[in-house]
Parts: sequence; structure tokens; C-alpha cells
Amino acid sequence: MRIYYAENYEKMSRKAADILAAQVTLKPDSVLGLATGATPVGLYRALAVDHREHGLSFSKCRTVNLDEYCGLAADHPQSYAYFMQKMLFSNIDICPEHTYLPDGKNIDADAECQRYDALLASLGGIDLQLLGIGHNGHIGFNEPAACFSTGTHRIRLTESTIHANARFFVREEEMPEYAYTMGIRPIVQARRILLVVSGAEKAEILEQALFGPVTPHVPASILQLVPDLIVCGEAGALSDICSKHSALVTNLP
Ligand code: PGA
Repeated sequence: MRIYYAENYEKMSRKAADILAAQVTLKPDSVLGLATGATPVGLYRALAVDHREHGLSFSKCRTVNLDEYCGLAADHPQSYAYFMQKMLFSNIDICPEHTYLPDGKNIDADAECQRYDALLASLGGIDLQLLGIGHNGHIGFNEPAACFSTGTHRIRLTESTIHANARFFVREEEMPEYAYTMGIRPIVQARRILLVVSGAEKAEILEQALFGPVTPHVPASILQLVPDLIVCGEAGALSDICSKHSALVTNLP
């Protein structure tokens, strides 16, 4: 595990973008596992700049997203399909038909989960998986549970997640209670994982996830088993790790 400490969100985003850009440069046909939420927005902006100003090309990449809200169509402004389109896909040269997300409008959960798992298998797994971490330690929408999930599944979101994500909706009641999420297994089987974390409110859960017991009650703790894990955190998010495990942290210039 490598932990990079950035003074602020912009520097964290730039470092994470550099790692993702290097992945695409070294393997232009990379399968990229992508994440949504507030944290990766700066990184997506930085990648758009790399594409526009430095010729970074995603034309051979394929992308698979971690999750999608059940009930929201791809053109719903709060859907993750819409988010990805707006924040990244429309700003780079990726082929639209090479971008994949669970279909939130498919009401046949079994069929949708099987379809997504078959898709992941047909892509040959994920070369680099980008992750954020939830306040409760979730990765994707794999919420704290009695055991680690395996394949794609439909999940009832916890109150803490609904509360955290309701800020993106006009009214909290509009926030879907269910989502489709990739399971833990394809996430941890990714050949490389890049975890981005920002905000002091994540400091405690991040330290617990990376240095506490490996338990499904903190889903991100499974990342301790990943051989190639890169963490890019900003000062607030890394405050607990810096005070307890400073020798393991690399400061960015
Ligand atoms: P955030 O979400 O980036 O909006 O904090 C992260 C997550 O829930 O995985």
C-alpha cells in the first residue's frame, strides 16, 4: 500500500489524475473501474485537461462504473450515468459504447446483476479501479454487512448513505433507497486500486479501514488484502493516519 498525502483537494486530484493517466498511457486499452460522488470530480476535471491540452487519449479504454441508483434512467440528472457523462465522458475521447454502468431502470434485479457480472467477466477484469470511501466505510454501494458480497447485487442503502447523498437531490425524499452495486470480489480483484479520500469527516473511517480489523462491517477494510493499493488523500482525510502511522505516508511536493 502506498499513501500519498496532499495538502489540499486540488493537489490530491492532480496526483490521482497523474496515476490514472499513467495507467492509460502504459496500457491504452485499459479497463477502468470508475466511481462517482464528490471526491473524484477534481480528478475527472484534471483528466479532461490532460486530454484537451496534452493529448491523453481514452479512445481504446473501456470503463465500468461501480454502481447506479435503482429507478433512475440514464438521463435523470441525479443518475450516475448522467454524472459520468457530464463530469468525464463528454470531456474526453472515450467511445460512448465502451462505457458501462448498471441499468437503474431494469426492474428485474436478478437479470440486471447477472448481466453486469457477465459484462465484467467478458472484459477480463479491471486494470485500475478508482474508489472513494463512504462515511460508513462502504466501497461502491457495498454497505456494512455481516459478510463481504461477491457479485453485483441490489442493495438497500443505509440511512447514513441516504443522508450523505441526499444533498445531491432537491428533496431528501427523492433519493432512491435502492441501488445496484458491483460486488466486493471484482473490486478487490482489480489489478490496481486507486482510493481517493477528501475531508476530515473521513479521517477516522479511513484509518479504521486501512489499519483496523478486516471486517465486512467496514467494507473498505478488505482493501488491506489488495497487493497494489494506492491511496491519495488530502490533509483532513489523512489526519488520523498521519498522527498514528506517519512513517507510511509520502508527502507530495
Ligand atoms: P463522496 O462519496 O465522494 O461523495 O464522499 C464517496 C462514497 O460514498 O463512496
